Amino acid sequence: MKLYRVIAAALVALGALASCKSGIEADVEKTLKGMDLDAKIGQMVQLNINLVTNDEGLDEAKMESVFGRWKIGSILNVYKGQAQTREKTAELIAGIQEASMKYIGIPCIYGLDMIHGASYLKEGTFFPQEINIAASFDPHHASEMGRIMAYETRAALCPWIFSPVMDLGRDPRWARLWESFGEDAYLQSVMAVAETKAVQEGDVAACLKHYMAYGAPFSGKDRTPAILTEQDMREKYFRPFKECVEAGALSVMVNSASINGVPTHANKVLLTDWLKDGLDWDGMIVTDWADVNNLFTREHIAADRKEALALAINAGIDMIMEPYDTLCCADLKAAVEEKLIPMSRIDDAVRRVLRLKYRLGLFENPVWDTAAYGEYASDAFVAAAKQAAAESEVLLKNEGVLPIRKGSRILVTGPCANSIRSLNGGWSYTWQGSDDPYFVDGFNTIYEALAAKFGKDKVRFVPGVEFDEADWQAEKNIDIASAAAAARQADVVVACLGENSYCETPGNIDDLNLSANQKALLKAVAASGKPVVLVLNEGRPRIIGDVEPLAKAVVDVMLPGNYGGDALAELLAGEKNFCAKLPFTYPKHINSLHTYDYKVSEQVGIMVGDYNYDAVMDVQWPFGTGLSYTSFEYSGLKCDKSSFKSGDVLEFELELKNVGDVAGKEAVLLYSSDLVASIVPDVRRLRAFTKVELQPGESTVVKLSVPADELAFVGQDGKWHLEKGAFRFAAGNCSLTLDCTETTIR
Ligand code: BGC
Repeated sequence: MKLYRVIAAALVALGALASCKSGIEADVEKTLKGMDLDAKIGQMVQLNINLVTNDEGLDEAKMESVFGRWKIGSILNVYKGQAQTREKTAELIAGIQEASMKYIGIPCIYGLDMIHGASYLKEGTFFPQEINIAASFDPHHASEMGRIMAYETRAALCPWIFSPVMDLGRDPRWARLWESFGEDAYLQSVMAVAETKAVQEGDVAACLKHYMAYGAPFSGKDRTPAILTEQDMREKYFRPFKECVEAGALSVMVNSASINGVPTHANKVLLTDWLKDGLDWDGMIVTDWADVNNLFTREHIAADRKEALALAINAGIDMIMEPYDTLCCADLKAAVEEKLIPMSRIDDAVRRVLRLKYRLGLFENPVWDTAAYGEYASDAFVAAAKQAAAESEVLLKNEGVLPIRKGSRILVTGPCANSIRSLNGGWSYTWQGSDDPYFVDGFNTIYEALAAKFGKDKVRFVPGVEFDEADWQAEKNIDIASAAAAARQADVVVACLGENSYCETPGNIDDLNLSANQKALLKAVAASGKPVVLVLNEGRPRIIGDVEPLAKAVVDVMLPGNYGGDALAELLAGEKNFCAKLPFTYPKHINSLHTYDYKVSEQVGIMVGDYNYDAVMDVQWPFGTGLSYTSFEYSGLKCDKSSFKSGDVLEFELELKNVGDVAGKEAVLLYSSDLVASIVPDVRRLRAFTKVELQPGESTVVKLSVPADELAFVGQDGKWHLEKGAFRFAAGNCSLTLDCTETTIR
């Protein structure tokens, strides 16, 4: 694209711009020329589907108003707030397109929250949530999820999804941690790029969200302010967006909250300077839900809607997700007429909307033949989702109890034991994922999967604690004594503890500890003396430090989706091997919420003197923890260079051997540590990873590349510094130190 712009600039100088415009750019200009201000404003607005529907389906009178009067450019969301069949979804979108073409002559762009597969379609293939995909440390699964969700979304006539989510989940208290690929910027980037590319290769536009640093609320509560250093923003939070944009992402949705006092929807520096101009990106930026209104109703940086609109549009917003009404249309028009927003900005925004529609081929084909999508929900798609689930469940502890021997009498207990809802989490059939008894049929809960695997007569289910379906945090039918009695009759207890499904702000919590009832259940079943396998089924790491020692084995299945129960049964039976690793740091104490790349001085030994102090790093399980039924031996880490400088690519090699008795896959993670830096360095950073499969006794040479410039950090002057001095590299138990021979500042 940069090259295109350079050539275009040269041709302009020669007075030949028209002839160099690509077909799409010429079409965009032609369409824009034919639009008056009302039409332009309409294209910049997105409404919720209930504004064009009634209980029976599309509402002609509403459509006449929305498309005829207001010329609205986009509709979002699932009809009636519940997953529909693909036929119903296609029928609604086809009707919307017909109305849009009839009244405006411009196709509508319809957007849906497909978050872990086609999660708003009945019978859509549900993958594990992104946090699980990250745990697989294998971008193949992100790519497969993207490919299949795009296919199934197009099968329902929808050309745009609000995915991938790429907020770094760096605060375990945050209710949306599980929606993205974990706490590390590099892992997040690799996975998000794989998903974005696959989605768009399937002719569906990805929408990167939520730009940016949404996952770091200071209070831990969703949609509350973040306070961040410029270093962290540029080195970490920006990175996945930059890489996905450079990989061709077509649209971006904005972080609903504020950073350092500036609501992101009004942050011109982030939206225009960093994203659009900085990356030379001609894609489209959409707000999050009602977030222009939030600038005056919640954030108090504008007195009214008109002022809020001017702030947002001037900052770089192109499309306003205004789900509830069309009030913004008149205010936007007034803001333009009063010259609060220059016409050039409106034209730029509309060009970006039209460009997206042209790029998706919507002008030529607002609808297409959905009969061609015969692979929808096919066995092959299901197999891909199930494989992803099996490779995403993390074994954190195993004191000889797993695999569970066939013939064992198993007690399955806990509120997550017999729930598809808790396996899926939010964004599953409904926003909160809360209506699964109505939607889901034919999938196995953990209890059902274990009964199918180990025999109905061997597996008993006594919940002990149940979730209250009406309030995701509430628990009911507490009968711990029955579970404890059943434990005494069993050979092994599988305690499935964690969280019921939730999503976004309703998922805010006041205590990261696992609930008192569930901890009491674990204590009671463990008191039976029978080995307890603790299965954690949760969207964020709930603290279990005081009860974890009672479990002989721990598996964090997080949110593995519809096939997560079956996958777990195969893993617990030893038919498959665990190979996932934690993509976040599992905290042990509420006052020790660290990330793996903490600043070195977050952990210090006792300083002796007048004022003794220390700062202790004590986490439950570090980022990257993940056991297997086999063991891998790391040796011989070496690099092709003994020293390096900017521009070099460091080629690492190490030998990896499967020294156990069963085949297994190992994710090899390579970290760097800048041993002395002019600002306090991170203790370590993930720089490369790969996943390899080895048979028992087999070994292989694993190769990993790290461009030296990746080791740079953002200095006090806002520039990238690769500083002279020693860097340590580590993978497994191997490490080596290399010198950077000169300082480079960019
Ligand atoms: C969420 C977004 C979502 C949007 C549209 C918002 O509340 O923050 O992630 O894409 O709603 O449903």
